[in-house]
Amino acid sequence: MTSSKLMRFLPLRKMKSTKLIAFVVIFVLVLVGYSKLSSTKETGPMEAKDNILREFNKADSPIDVMEEIAQLKKKVLELEKGTKKYPETKFLNYKDRKRILITGGAGFVGSHLSDKLMKQGHEVTVVDNFFTGRKLNVEHWIGHPNFELIHHDIVNPLYIEVDQIYHLASPASPPNYMYNPIKTIKTNTVGTINMLGLARRTRARLLLASTSEVYGDPEVHPQNEEYWGHVNPIGPRACYDEGKRVAETMCYAYAKQENIEVRVARIFNTFGPRMHMNDGRVVSNFILQALQGQPITVYGEGKQTRSFQYVTDLVEGLVALMNSNYSQPVNLGNPDEHTIMDFADIIKRLVGGDSKVVNKPAMQDDPRKRKPDISRAKLYLNWEPKVQLEVGINKTIEYFRNELKSTKFSERLNTF
Ligand SMILES: NC(=O)c1ccc[n+]([C@@H]2O[C@H](COP(=O)([O-])OP(=O)(O)OC[C@H]3O[C@@H](n4cnc5c(N)ncnc54)[C@H](O)[C@@H]3O)[C@@H](O)[C@H]2O)c1
Ligand SMILES: *[C@@H]1O[C@H](CO)[C@@H](O)[C@H](O)[C@H]1NC(C)=O
Ligand SMILES: *[C@@H]1O[C@H](CO)[C@@H](O)[C@H](O)[C@H]1NC(C)=O
Repeated sequence: MTSSKLMRFLPLRKMKSTKLIAFVVIFVLVLVGYSKLSSTKETGPMEAKDNILREFNKADSPIDVMEEIAQLKKKVLELEKGTKKYPETKFLNYKDRKRILITGGAGFVGSHLSDKLMKQGHEVTVVDNFFTGRKLNVEHWIGHPNFELIHHDIVNPLYIEVDQIYHLASPASPPNYMYNPIKTIKTNTVGTINMLGLARRTRARLLLASTSEVYGDPEVHPQNEEYWGHVNPIGPRACYDEGKRVAETMCYAYAKQENIEVRVARIFNTFGPRMHMNDGRVVSNFILQALQGQPITVYGEGKQTRSFQYVTDLVEGLVALMNSNYSQPVNLGNPDEHTIMDFADIIKRLVGGDSKVVNKPAMQDDPRKRKPDISRAKLYLNWEPKVQLEVGINKTIEYFRNELKSTKFSERLNTF
């Protein structure tokens, strides 16, 4: 993990990864060693090592640092031997093995979907422009014979041969899509047309990752798929909400006119490892605050409710929907509601530390509750969320903790 972090900020992408990592590690050690040696000419190698440690040591315990270095060493050795270890994959025979395209496959949900499909033994092609996704999310598959990563923007046409398309490419959180509304609209309209065109040419089945946002600011609770929604076409979220609505429209137009097989998943709030740390949602905010020992801020009394599904539950649902014969939109979410105060307490307890929960004045337009009605998914897909909230939150905390650590690590490297 840490070593690919290194690759991300050094402009050496073109080199082969084996040599690159070895080079980077040696380069950093030499650089640090040199800067120390040159200040105190008499320093021996042991002292140089101590100096390096001291330098790394400013923020972390020596154990952390030694661990980081040991991991790097291990990785270099592994790469030198050319024995990159991949997660285990099943073998599928020719008849059952599918060529599956995942647009946005380097993102949060897409990378977990890649994991699932790769492990099942399919051939997976990930297409991503890395707008909000990152290579690190699928790094563990790079080089595997069944896996391909293509850097491509789906606003441009794509010509490959596939059997199934999971169409996930689109910025997904308000800060991400509001950052470039026009790009968000293009990705959801032109991009979706391109993927439907690809489905038409290859006769592949396409699953669209739609969103609960198509219901807008709903007037019914919980929302079932029959509800047409309540969306402001010129509001700040419109680029996303309306983009997804028209993407759904396009799917059914292609289904009707060109006989394309389409599946539409309306995804509700999802959390888990690889989610964006700064997407402004309750779970990520609270975990970050708790981990950094900052006060956990609850707006208003904290009686508003939210519901979150764990990412592997969602992935199960997406795969079930793709392979079902049900072609109408299906909600995928967790109907288990918790108050914001609940989330604050649970996260505080699981992270430990001494963060206090502080109440701030309620925010304007703080969404009221949004809760999925998942009876359709239960009926047609035999699907419902299984992962316990606490289990999911623990895994997410662990991920955030490591992310914070490796960010600190890169920052320190950057200062050399
Ligand atoms: N995470 C949630 O809670 C949630 C909720 C509802 C719907 N969804 C939908 O699920 C899908 C995945 O969401 P996510 O949370 O993984 O978000 P994400 O931002 O992590 O993933 C989206 C991926 O699409 C890529 N992408 C964006 N524009 C692209 C383009 N023009 N060409 C190629 N790649 C492009 C991004 O780089 C990123 O890797 C999205 O379509 C989103 O609308 C997610
Ligand atoms: C759809 O799939 C279910 C179960 O997989 C099956 O019972 C049903 O007959 C199928 N319906 C059609 C129309 O193919
Ligand atoms: C979550 O983590 C906490 C703290 O490490 C632990 O006490 C608890 O048992 C874990 N819960 C689950 C369900 O794994």
